[in-house]
Amino acid sequence: MKLFRKSAKEPERAELDLSRVPAHIGVIMDGNGRWARRKGLPRSVGHKAGADNLEAICDYCGSIGVKALTVYAFSTENWSRPQSEIDALMELLYGYLLTVEEKFKNRSMKLKISGDTAPLSDKIKKAIVHAEEVTASGDGMVLNIALNYGGRSEIARAARLAAEDVKSGKISPEDIDEKYLGGLMYTADLPEVDLIIRPSGEKRLSNFLLWQAAYAEFWYSDICWPDFKEKDMERAIIDFQSRDRRFGNV
Ligand code: IPE
Ligand code: IPE
Ligand code: MG
Repeated sequence: MKLFRKSAKEPERAELDLSRVPAHIGVIMDGNGRWARRKGLPRSVGHKAGADNLEAICDYCGSIGVKALTVYAFSTENWSRPQSEIDALMELLYGYLLTVEEKFKNRSMKLKISGDTAPLSDKIKKAIVHAEEVTASGDGMVLNIALNYGGRSEIARAARLAAEDVKSGKISPEDIDEKYLGGLMYTADLPEVDLIIRPSGEKRLSNFLLWQAAYAEFWYSDICWPDFKEKDMERAIIDFQSRDRRFGNV
């Protein structure tokens, strides 16, 4: 396991505490387009490099005991991009899904897709069902891909499901509390989100994990996602471990 301990020449800095690793990390995989543009390459090349970067980050997170990694791959707002870019992103996603069975098997990883899959092509929908099925027994880290995901849409969906439960008599309106609604979020089966990371220099959530972010810690980095490596992840986690999470207490 690579833990990026300081070499003799490096300045003194805190080391990772393996007993206090965030259980659930969210990553906004941003900056693929700028990464490519700076190299004079098409944006789609940046998306491919971004997708390729995920494997090493998953391996690193799995190796230190992270239970769930939620990665933002396509937002409900990304449909406003040029059709050619959307098509390239969907093809990339499809290609990735086809590799999941092979890639996840040796890692005991489990795949989960969070978001509204209804507007996706039949071919992608089938690949999602297959990839989730063949990895369902994985008892290692969950890779949760936020796909056609928006925090507001997730909360609206939870409200809709709660309304249906009231309508069918399963619950009464008074039963709708934070715990109940939380159980209707895509992440209900995952631990609380401890840390949200956004590479590429932007300092906003862009509709990512709005419900779950309530007490998550944030880490921003100017590095674009394709260049965001294990050592950058480790730096973010070490910083997370130095924080005093009070949850409203003193
Ligand atoms: C993130 O990279 C990937 C998706 C949103 C699908 P971007 O495509 O947003 O890259 P930038 O932000 O334009 O550099
Ligand atoms: C957020 O990035 C969505 C993903 C990384 C999938 P965007 O690039 O779409 O966000 P904005 O437009 O900069 O807020
Ligand atoms: Mg972006």
